[in-house]
Amino acid sequence: MSIMDSLKAKAKANKKTIVLPESMDKRTFAAAEQILKEDIANLVIIGTPEEIAANGKGYDITGATIVDPFTDPNRQKYIDKFVELRSKKGVTPESAEKMMTEDYMYYACLMCKCGDADGAVSGACHSTGNTIRPALQLLKTKPGISSVSGFFLMEVPDCKFGDNGLFVFADCAVNTDLDSEKLAEIAGLSAESFRFFTGGEPKVAMLSYSSKGSAKHDDVTKVADAVKIAHERFPDIELDGELQLDAAIVAEVGELKAPDSKVAGHANTLVFPSLEAGNIGYKLVQRLAKAEAYGPVLQGLAMPVNDLSRGCFAEDIVGVVAMTAVQAQMSE
Ligand code: ACO
Repeated sequence: MSIMDSLKAKAKANKKTIVLPESMDKRTFAAAEQILKEDIANLVIIGTPEEIAANGKGYDITGATIVDPFTDPNRQKYIDKFVELRSKKGVTPESAEKMMTEDYMYYACLMCKCGDADGAVSGACHSTGNTIRPALQLLKTKPGISSVSGFFLMEVPDCKFGDNGLFVFADCAVNTDLDSEKLAEIAGLSAESFRFFTGGEPKVAMLSYSSKGSAKHDDVTKVADAVKIAHERFPDIELDGELQLDAAIVAEVGELKAPDSKVAGHANTLVFPSLEAGNIGYKLVQRLAKAEAYGPVLQGLAMPVNDLSRGCFAEDIVGVVAMTAVQAQMSE
């Protein structure tokens, strides 16, 4: 069974309610039809009757709840919640109403915040920033977490590395200013994500262009310091660094470059030293190794909200909805 098939089965076993705010995009309806057919999640689609009629034509979305943000009986509740959460940032009832109806992602996040949905998926026709900003502003991080980050679950075909080709890569999507504290936090969150999504034991490598002091530079020190912080914060996680990629995943190289490490050569959870490295790294593996790259999945948010690539297919939306539903189970 592929990892996605097992995630769909997991989502199906304890169904969650996921909001899809992009009724302006036909792919939302194609995905909704499949999600309902496969019984992966309960769905809410936000849109006006005109948007639903224009873009949903030909798709069977019987079973989805349609919420028109202009006539929804819960609309005032969401406006009040928006003002309660953001009045210190200058949000008034008028601006809340305007933002919610001009950008349905705000509406979706307010539904989650008010307990009317368990998670949201967007980004087929919105940028990453515009997709995740409402979630950062309204849902905030989990207690004790300072930064939301984004991981990819990578499934590399015919691969002996990682957990038989399964890896978590992070942060590939969010933080443009990674310091040692944030890297350590990402290590802890990524280990938890690996365990929850794959069922396997995480072995976390903090990546660099240096292995165990083989190079000296502030960039290397940043990662070495992150390793120390992560060991203090998460003593039970198998984690090591700083390691070069080959030392992290190839057993013979790990033995050569970091002989005392239990992680070197066996890592399945890779924490990249910068967003550039993480974003470029996952795309290289996806394209050159023909790996499946599921994500970016946001970790550290108080409730699950996930982003899509603008080039996504309906099938990708189905996968991200399944992962979001599984994350919602994680928060129970
Ligand atoms: N974790 C938690 N909260 C955050 C984070 C974070 N990582 N980043 C910002 N916030 C909070 C801020 O504290 C702020 O809260 P407040 O309004 O209550 O004070 C709110 O979010 C907005 O923050 P800003 O910094 O004003 O928002 P901005 O829009 O500048 O940045 C964003 C946030 C969108 C995440 C930005 O960092 C970004 O664009 N990152 C890169 C995204 C990207 O382009 N990724 C690559 C493509 S993805 C792909 O290829 C798969």
